[in-house]
Amino acid sequence: MYKKKSLFITFEGIEGSGKSFQSKKLYNNLKLKNISSLLTREPGGTGSAEKIRNVILDDYFHPKLKEKFNKYTDTLLYLASRNEHVINKIKPAILMKKIVICDRFIDSTMAYQVYGKNVNKNFIDHIHKHILKGLKPDITFLLRVNVSKALFRLKKRKKKNRYDKFSKSFYTKVQNAFIKISRKNKRRYIVLDNTNDSNDIEKIILKKILLKLKK
Ligand code: TMP
Repeated sequence: MYKKKSLFITFEGIEGSGKSFQSKKLYNNLKLKNISSLLTREPGGTGSAEKIRNVILDDYFHPKLKEKFNKYTDTLLYLASRNEHVINKIKPAILMKKIVICDRFIDSTMAYQVYGKNVNKNFIDHIHKHILKGLKPDITFLLRVNVSKALFRLKKRKKKNRYDKFSKSFYTKVQNAFIKISRKNKRRYIVLDNTNDSNDIEKIILKKILLKLKK
């Protein structure tokens, strides 16, 4: 038997790392074991947060626009969307002892905005303090990938990809940032190499979570 307890699980990694795929797999694998969970994502996750996501993505989709968002505007939009998501979905679910699986969370902001775009870390920490009020993931899976392989996966996607504007070196920088963050948070991080599309990854992830639920 598994204990009914809240667990806040996040998936992190660069685009093409397979994190969205693996978070869905975990959701479905838990369902097969009659363990209900909630699958969500950032930016987005609630009606209003998804509206903010669309504003962010609309800016991505038009990389040649003269009037692009300043990096602080961009950051504030991610944080605004997080605030809506945390208040209206994540915290209520945790209070109801639910398992929350979130595709991206705070470490994406560290990796993309702070390390990737040089946004001031204190600026983000300060806002996080107010909107998270101590909320932290219990466990984070970082999916590492060979960056060329990730770019190959992105190119294969049918939907025109909005991230083509990011260079290989940007993705390398962001992935290195994720690795650095994982080393600073060893207790909550599980780093898995997902370069080879191995079926083992979903099994390892499920096993780790089931173990947590038994404790
Ligand atoms: P996704 O569809 O892979 O989740 O993409 C969302 C994009 O938003 C991706 O480029 C990463 C980026 N992002 C940030 O830059 N900062 C953040 O805090 C979050 C949550 C996402």
